[in-house]
Amino acid sequence: MGLFIQPYMSNLSLYNFPEVYDSLRTPAPHVFEEVYQTMVKLLGHVPESVMDPASGPATWLSFFADKGIMVAGNDIVPEMIESAKKKCNGQSLEFIVGDMCDLKFQRGPFEVCFELSGHCGLFLPGHETFYKFMRELSRNTKPNGMIMVTLFFVEPCPDHYPFMVDQWGPVNVNGQGSAWISYEILRSNPTLNLDQVRRTVRTQGIPAFPNPLVEEYEMFSWTEDRFLAFLKNFPELVLIDSFSIEKYGVHHTSWGQQRGETTVVLRKLGCPKDPLLS
Ligand SMILES: C[S@@+](CC[C@H](N)C(=O)[O-])C[C@H]1O[C@@H](n2cnc3c(N)ncnc32)[C@H](O)[C@@H]1O
Repeated sequence: MGLFIQPYMSNLSLYNFPEVYDSLRTPAPHVFEEVYQTMVKLLGHVPESVMDPASGPATWLSFFADKGIMVAGNDIVPEMIESAKKKCNGQSLEFIVGDMCDLKFQRGPFEVCFELSGHCGLFLPGHETFYKFMRELSRNTKPNGMIMVTLFFVEPCPDHYPFMVDQWGPVNVNGQGSAWISYEILRSNPTLNLDQVRRTVRTQGIPAFPNPLVEEYEMFSWTEDRFLAFLKNFPELVLIDSFSIEKYGVHHTSWGQQRGETTVVLRKLGCPKDPLLS
């Protein structure tokens, strides 16, 4: 099996509550619009299909579906896929339950593979799973298509712990209740570029929700050199852009200056007869 946030193994996770996840993590419409315009500009046209390998309840995908684009999603948690199918009804190519490192789509490859929630920061370096994940993304991307994934690049360690990275709420959950979320760094290992993160979610008016729901996991940050060396494993993929998502929208970033949560955009080279593309 691939990777999990550790507490999911034994306890409930935020991922068992698709509506709470969705309410807390839905991007602002203007942010989605800027990401979408960036995608269209880089691709040269409106994508015919977008696939999310860890789709959750189609939090990002449903925006593409609302634009009339066909979407596909995979997630390890069946509740997430049930919720995603309902949200993308009418624009759904395929939604499947499975491991993002072993994708079993029947209707691929897709024009854009897309994971912007930061979940890929859970892949550890040198860990075979990230290689498998990228191999799966490449295999499921059409020639001339694109991969957009959010990763983390090394930034200075906080000067105190726990360090509050971000928190927000209350957000409305389906008209039934409210939810709050926070992300804190509990400690850092600068040698391995790992941060121990605590995610805390609290709700009101959601009877089944175990309050508070606290999960801890390790997030990995790449150095630029390491990431660029890793990419050499995929000669069919070419780096074409990178950006961070700020509250006001998309901020394009440059190599030599990557820091923190960053989305990298890769184009898959276009010759279908190239043996590297098989
Ligand atoms: C942070 S959410 C991302 C949701 C989505 N990409 C979005 O639009 O916000 C991470 C998702 O990854 C799923 N997940 C965790 N481990 C997975 C794995 N090995 N394979 C597929 N999905 C996985 C979780 O169930 C959860 O829905």
